[in-house]
Amino acid sequence: MREPTDFGDRDYSVAMVNVTNVCNLSCSHCFIFRDGNPNSPRDKMDDATMLHQLQVLRDRHNIKYMYFMGGEPMIRRDLVMQGTKMFEHCQIVTNGTYGIPSLPGHEVTVSLDGPEALNDPIRGKGVFQKVRAAIAERQQGDGTSVILQMVVTAKNQDGLEEFFEEVKDWPIEGVAVSPYVPQKNDDSGLDWATLEERDAVVHRLIALKEKYPDLMKANAGALRLMLSETALDYTGTDGENCPIRGQTLTLYVGDDGNFEQTFCCYGNDVDCARCGSYLLFNAAYHKQITKRGGVASRAAAGSV
Ligand SMILES: C[S@@+](CC[C@H](N)C(=O)[O-])C[C@H]1O[C@@H](n2cnc3c(N)ncnc32)[C@H](O)[C@@H]1O
Repeated sequence: MREPTDFGDRDYSVAMVNVTNVCNLSCSHCFIFRDGNPNSPRDKMDDATMLHQLQVLRDRHNIKYMYFMGGEPMIRRDLVMQGTKMFEHCQIVTNGTYGIPSLPGHEVTVSLDGPEALNDPIRGKGVFQKVRAAIAERQQGDGTSVILQMVVTAKNQDGLEEFFEEVKDWPIEGVAVSPYVPQKNDDSGLDWATLEERDAVVHRLIALKEKYPDLMKANAGALRLMLSETALDYTGTDGENCPIRGQTLTLYVGDDGNFEQTFCCYGNDVDCARCGSYLLFNAAYHKQITKRGGVASRAAAGSV
């Protein structure tokens, strides 16, 4: 059995693994398939090797939380379901077109990028209805936390409020939102021209949190940090202020069939100064709370 790449001996409590570079969708905003990322679509690590290597890395780095991603992770369902038994906390991030896996005690994030008319041009024709049917058929009450995730871009932002209204009665545990993470010199039209221009949608996200406090899985305090007056304090121009870069072990499968680590969870080509990752701002928000003395200061930090 091939042993995993040597990533040193430090602890990483959080890791993400791209179990496959293959995907049945080709979403217009996807960072995985950007040039410069290890994303060649042939699977070069078989199930037994990957499970063995994940176990070795778990023990070597004390990994407690594993994100299973891709490509589309459910294309390798057996591998993923076995892998989730190996970690204390797991999250599968899926496009939902292969059904919603049952993962009691853990989280399944299902990506949808707005109401049907805005989601399908991004994720593919018929995808919204397919995912809606899969969610309706899920085993509700099985202990799996099913969260929808919408990546907000300059092109689908108009559908935010309609999306929340539409999914609010679906059998889900919540809706996560994250503004787009652009690449350097991004000319996709998905990013906003400036951080100041992005502010309008951040304010709308904060308003949605007030309207749907339980449904929306985001802290208003973390969303406020995204505003242009503070965002760079938490990203830096090249990721120098980022609280998650270097803290998460990112496991992409390279051309030689071995795991390799990327610059950050979003790959090797990211414009940190324009990053919208909710994960980043939420980590920064929690760091602030801890510094200011814990739960008592949550109100001061703006949590709702
Ligand atoms: C890369 S996908 C892989 C898993 C699966 N195929 C899916 O669609 O959920 C994981 C998540 O990253 C999000 N994502 C992709 N590109 C992004 C970007 N440039 N900025 C922010 N999030 C992005 C996707 O929308 C999805 O929710």
